[in-house]
Amino acid sequence: MLSPSLSKALPEALQCLSLSTPERASDAPSRDVYFALLREDPEPSALHSAVEYLERQLELADALPCDLPADPADIPEWILGSTQQVGRQYREYLAARRNGAPRAYFSGKAHALHFLKGVAPTKLVDGAWLYGLTRRWNDARLLPLIRIYLEELGNGVPERNHVLLFKRLLAAHGCERWEALPEANFVQGAIQLALAQHAERFLPEIIGFNLGYEQLPLHLLICAYELDELGIDPMYFTLHVTVDNADSGHARKALDGLLEMMPRIGDRSDFLARVARGYKLNMLGASTNSVIREFDLQREVEAILAAKSQVGREAHSDYCRIAGRTVNDWLAEPQQVPAFLEALQQHGWIRRNEDPQQSRFWRLIDGPGARMFGVFTGYEMTAIREWIAGDWQGAPRELSFRARSRMLEQPTTPANARARGVLRSRGQRAPATAVDEFSAELRLLEDRLAEMESREERMDLLSRLMAPALHHGAAGLMATRIYSGMLA
Ligand SMILES: [Fe+2]
Repeated sequence: MLSPSLSKALPEALQCLSLSTPERASDAPSRDVYFALLREDPEPSALHSAVEYLERQLELADALPCDLPADPADIPEWILGSTQQVGRQYREYLAARRNGAPRAYFSGKAHALHFLKGVAPTKLVDGAWLYGLTRRWNDARLLPLIRIYLEELGNGVPERNHVLLFKRLLAAHGCERWEALPEANFVQGAIQLALAQHAERFLPEIIGFNLGYEQLPLHLLICAYELDELGIDPMYFTLHVTVDNADSGHARKALDGLLEMMPRIGDRSDFLARVARGYKLNMLGASTNSVIREFDLQREVEAILAAKSQVGREAHSDYCRIAGRTVNDWLAEPQQVPAFLEALQQHGWIRRNEDPQQSRFWRLIDGPGARMFGVFTGYEMTAIREWIAGDWQGAPRELSFRARSRMLEQPTTPANARARGVLRSRGQRAPATAVDEFSAELRLLEDRLAEMESREERMDLLSRLMAPALHHGAAGLMATRIYSGMLA
């Protein structure tokens, strides 16, 4: 998304952002594939459908151009060149911003949160395409790729597990309800989960997909910058800037993974053609840029109210009438929502382009004493507030996430230290039964591992717990820590 005014303000290199990632929505049921595979034990029929799904996606990818060098010897220079280009474009972006250009991506906080929701199906299976390799831990050639997977899982440390980080980010802003997103938003996640289940069949494609996914894109840097500016924790994005680095990070490991698996006897050209097909899978479905571009605040507010009308159409008393009709009547059909919003404005319930506190409708939904408090999620409240406020300039400027975090840090004084000590000691006196309930499953895992006779059996159990649907739970995190330790 680039506004016309921004197109003038930003350097030419950045204007191609809106065109940089081709979009190809498929007619395949990506959402069905996604949810059927994101389970502890996917059904055999789901595993079968996943193969057909991948084959269809690969056919779609065949129609796309490929910028991956045909000769692997040229790939290091290609990685370096694209990293340098991204660095240059980012510097141009920063210079433009310093000179007063508006944000390139997000018109406001609601836009940014809408983006987080829109990419949730992909981010919540981060790394999944490599999962199928974890059972091949004794094949040294696969270690660079397995290590990428382990790092996506934070090596079992919750604060570094990418999926957990993104889940927390969604929860912090009331963005958890993303299941009804359009089909195109599930394409990348469905591809990744399908690759997770069929590593034996699609290994070259996985290597190619990984090589594409682990390159540092410009949008990662700009997203991190603008999310921070809007008071949203950018850590998920900044973390990827560092872990994907071309020198020793995932981009380098992805290349090592390719070089290790190059056939020594078999047909190299066939292998490389399949790597290129896998690489192009990255280009299918909704992308960061397309999700950002699609946002429309008016449409979003209408969609929010239309969704609420399903549950709210019988919940209002007949006492309250707007333009002569009861609220229940207005909400009876979701398609009436635009006219309802218009009526609310005409009859003074909503005063656009003013402080939202001046709107009676806003006062009904905001604040602990509001009669409709809690009806809307954090994200929905942000969208409605920004829609009402419009071009009203009186809103206090949002503190950047970094600035807010700094302010919340308490200076260390003896009194603070004493207070923290008291809190800590209180925490340690939690009832023994509660601790037992929480740790029972972990102890069971330790017992099961201790009973097993071979390393193969243990690694197999650990690997099963590291599946995309499980690795971010308590047992999955512990399994990842043990697996990482055993691999070292
Ligand atoms: Fe990641």
